[in-house]
Amino acid sequence: MTTTLITGANKGLGYETARRLIEAGHTVWMAARDEQRGRTAADELGGSFVQLDVTDDQSVADAAETIANAGGLDVLINNAGIHGALGDPIQLTAADALDVYNTNVASVVRMTHAFVPVLRDSSIPTIVNVSSGMGSFTFVLDPERVESSLIMPLYQSSKSAVTMLTVQYAKALPDMRVNAADPGYTKTDFNEGHGHFTVQEGTDAIVELATREGSGPTGTIIDRTGVVPF
Ligand SMILES: NC(=O)c1ccc[n+]([C@@H]2O[C@H](COP(=O)([O-])OP(=O)(O)OC[C@H]3O[C@@H](n4cnc5c(N)ncnc54)[C@H](OP(=O)(O)O)[C@@H]3O)[C@@H](O)[C@H]2O)c1
Repeated sequence: MTTTLITGANKGLGYETARRLIEAGHTVWMAARDEQRGRTAADELGGSFVQLDVTDDQSVADAAETIANAGGLDVLINNAGIHGALGDPIQLTAADALDVYNTNVASVVRMTHAFVPVLRDSSIPTIVNVSSGMGSFTFVLDPERVESSLIMPLYQSSKSAVTMLTVQYAKALPDMRVNAADPGYTKTDFNEGHGHFTVQEGTDAIVELATREGSGPTGTIIDRTGVVPF
């Protein structure tokens, strides 16, 4: 059994991932930026709460210290994310871009920087980045795919970056398994419940990657049916 940290675990896909891992017997740190929401969620599921705002260096460093001192970590799941500003692409500003990229992209760098030293003490060090098919060049250029029907430049490019960070960290950390998950279009607050998949279906790829116990390929992105093209 593993010790796993999930960011943005107070609701949505992060919460369901925590529920499934705890049900399977794993130890789970449920991270949330808001203490009240995070503690409530952790109490509901039997997880351990840790305060963690993925945009805040000090918050991330403090969480890494807390978890290292409590016995370490096997699996890091970088799940927290936002869609950020929507609407007319031409009205999007650089400030909008920095906001989305800070939460979705720089957060992965911030978390990797802080937690790789903790993961190095594990015999099965694993990083799962929650990316999206919305960041797949193949999917957004395929008229048969739902991802091609949407124009969300900031969110979609941020997830392309998450997938590329996954590939690059996989190459830089050959002793670890670093992969990305595409949940698919899943009913959460993220899309005001309009997604097609249940949270159980949406977490299938995340749970699969988080429970490989250090085996399997690295540097890939998968959804619940298999490998997603870049
Ligand atoms: N739902 C989908 O269809 C779908 C599809 C593909 C990929 N994804 C990805 O899946 C991940 C989870 O999405 P979701 O659908 O579960 O969305 P959600 O229900 O909106 O949950 C997002 C989570 O991220 C947290 N978060 C946002 N900014 C944060 C920050 N600065 N620090 C720490 N936590 C922060 C939120 O915390 P608060 O409650 O405090 O806001 C919340 O816990 C995201 O990366 C998203 O891009 C979702």
